[in-house]
Amino acid sequence: MPLADKLTAALLARVGMRPDITASKVQAHLEKLPFDERESLVHHLLACSHQSTEWQAFIEPFLIHETYFFRHENQLEFLATTVLPRLIQERLKANRLEFRIWCAACSSGEEAYTAALLLRDAIQGIREASSRDWRLSVVGTDLSAEVLSKARAGEYSMSAGLNSFRDVPAFARHHFTNIFQRGEKTWTADEALRRFVTFQQRNIVQDPAPFSDADLVLCRNVLIYLDEPSVRTATSTFQGALRPGGVLVLGPADMLRQHEGWELLTNQRAMFWRKTAATA
Ligand SMILES: C[S@@+](CC[C@H](N)C(=O)[O-])C[C@H]1O[C@@H](n2cnc3c(N)ncnc32)[C@H](O)[C@@H]1O
Repeated sequence: MPLADKLTAALLARVGMRPDITASKVQAHLEKLPFDERESLVHHLLACSHQSTEWQAFIEPFLIHETYFFRHENQLEFLATTVLPRLIQERLKANRLEFRIWCAACSSGEEAYTAALLLRDAIQGIREASSRDWRLSVVGTDLSAEVLSKARAGEYSMSAGLNSFRDVPAFARHHFTNIFQRGEKTWTADEALRRFVTFQQRNIVQDPAPFSDADLVLCRNVLIYLDEPSVRTATSTFQGALRPGGVLVLGPADMLRQHEGWELLTNQRAMFWRKTAATA
């Protein structure tokens, strides 16, 4: 098999990435290597583990980390006004004051902090129990060690341009008034938020889920880059991660591929999927 095909196949097998979007980039990558060393470098790379620095450095240019706070406003409004209150009520009814969110493929953390801010607001709005009694957990995961270190730092520049705050909707702006100056405007996740938002390195097509009874899984703007069998693998992991009745949120362009065990929530925003009670 030609070297370029071997690398493309490895990206597919290890990351789930569609060959049609990686093949030309793989070729360009190979052309940058010294001709007489290509074969040995590629074989060395393929022998490296997924977590090795070499493999991580190789896949980084293939990953698209585009993300920002409160991305897809309509979707998040529905999440805040309908889905979260319903899931919280279910926990209250079951007398279990705990709530878990898995933000799968969260990139540099903006999505996980967004989910945490929405959850904190929703819990504070509950009359039946004090917010102090709840055990909350938001786990953000990504394949890339590079973006996860930014997520863990929890510090985001507010300078102009295509920054993390480029599209914060009016209903959410109050979250970002607490900024400090250090040469430039920066928003830092507060200590209370950091206590329940954590980050882990995980591959959605290879690794197990961080939870088996999550209330909510967000995996937005990721499945679109993966081939069909990898999408099936990832969504079956999401199903295993959710409690019965838990909800999966996909991005507007992401497809589920198999609908067994999922019920589409009645809404025009067709990317909310509820795990049916019968599913294991
Ligand atoms: C376009 S970003 C989406 C970030 C966020 N979910 C959002 O919608 O704003 C896609 C992220 O998926 C991650 N990713 C791609 N393939 C992955 C895999 N197999 N396992 C885990 N993360 C993956 C990339 O590293 C990247 O950070």
